[in-house]
Amino acid sequence: MNQASFPEMYERWLVAPLFRPYAEITLDEVRLSNGDRVLDIACGTGIVARVARERLGDSGSVVGVDVSPDMLAVARAVAPSIDWREGDASALPLGDGEQFDVVVCQQGLQFFPDKAAAVAQMRRALAKGGRVAVATWRSDDEIPFFRQLRRVAEQRLGNIADQRYSYGDATALEALLRHAGFLDVQCRTISRSIRFDAGTPFLRLNSMALVGMSAAGKQMGDVERIRVVEEIVAESVPVLQQFETGSVFAFELSTNLATARR
Ligand SMILES: C[S@@+](CC[C@H](N)C(=O)[O-])C[C@H]1O[C@@H](n2cnc3c(N)ncnc32)[C@H](O)[C@@H]1O
Repeated sequence: MNQASFPEMYERWLVAPLFRPYAEITLDEVRLSNGDRVLDIACGTGIVARVARERLGDSGSVVGVDVSPDMLAVARAVAPSIDWREGDASALPLGDGEQFDVVVCQQGLQFFPDKAAAVAQMRRALAKGGRVAVATWRSDDEIPFFRQLRRVAEQRLGNIADQRYSYGDATALEALLRHAGFLDVQCRTISRSIRFDAGTPFLRLNSMALVGMSAAGKQMGDVERIRVVEEIVAESVPVLQQFETGSVFAFELSTNLATARR
């Protein structure tokens, strides 16, 4: 039997307990309404776009853009009717004059090499008066579950610059949007208790991400990388157990959520 790919595992194990609740909060925040044209940048397997489509019913339109063809393949398989496009956030694949009422970027900005260019593209994609929402996790200094898991991995791999938590500074996020010319920029921290019942897949995905972001992991061949991931999963079990309540695991997770309008 073929092992599931990272995007398939992401969709299977992370989206419902973790990314969907934040997608719901974000779309509440931009007050999505009937007929809106929505652009989901760094859509991954597409949860923000899918929740937008659920809320819009038959009205409006939804486009999802991501640089990864593998993430988009899962997005297409799950929701074939949405308009998924491969492209970079700093050079969006949009038609001449194509504009949106709402632009959302959930947990993508921290990965973009040129954040100023990406935010300028968000603004260009918005119609006048349109709303943008950008979410970036707070630093893992504030998220004990992920901080402790990183420390376990670092014992084997050395220091890891975890990009996922690399843009936790709300002031920097606000400044980025203001400098791009957005109006009414506001940023708040949103914390939620995340609950999941399958610990091992969660640990495996997190270990895959940490190995992939480490300098040591980048030098590994496939066989060694798979072995090291499994070793880190086993060594992470005591951390997981600290967050166990009955038959479920639960941890606090915090994000910046910046909103603005054009
Ligand atoms: C943590 S995932 C978030 C996916 C999705 N927004 C969600 O909430 O589940 C980050 C995504 O950013 C995408 N990404 C990274 N760099 C990108 C870039 N320069 N342009 C577009 N997408 C990018 C990755 O391929 C990945 O799908």
